[in-house]
Amino acid sequence: MSLITWSEEFSVNIKEIDNQHRQLIEMINQLQRAMREGKSATVLNDILQRLIDYTDYHFSTEERLMEAYNYPGYVHHKAQHDAMKRKVQEFQRLYRQNPTGLSVQLLNFLKTWLNDHILNTDKHYTRHLNNQGVT
Ligand SMILES: [Fe+2]
Repeated sequence: MSLITWSEEFSVNIKEIDNQHRQLIEMINQLQRAMREGKSATVLNDILQRLIDYTDYHFSTEERLMEAYNYPGYVHHKAQHDAMKRKVQEFQRLYRQNPTGLSVQLLNFLKTWLNDHILNTDKHYTRHLNNQGVT
């Protein structure tokens, strides 16, 4: 498993959001490094809490912009965010019950999210927001 490197491929062409997406990549890489070193059990609790905080502020940033600029895909997009928030909370609940084996599942889930959501759903608002001066 290789670490993820930020590239223009991930860019939604809005600075604040790109910076927040970089933070997610950093969390994924931190989890991967910890797993490689056999230390995932010690970082998992912390990463889950940071993911919960992250989904709160990051999704709020995107949703605020989409609403403010009347993005037509808002409802569909927000539904994906809400599902992701519930999923991360579910991971935290499972972790509290039994932390064993959860890091692989979490890592796979986050990588899938990164590729599906950023590369597909997020990129769809770029033109709408850029056209209205949001960069
Ligand atoms: Fe999003």
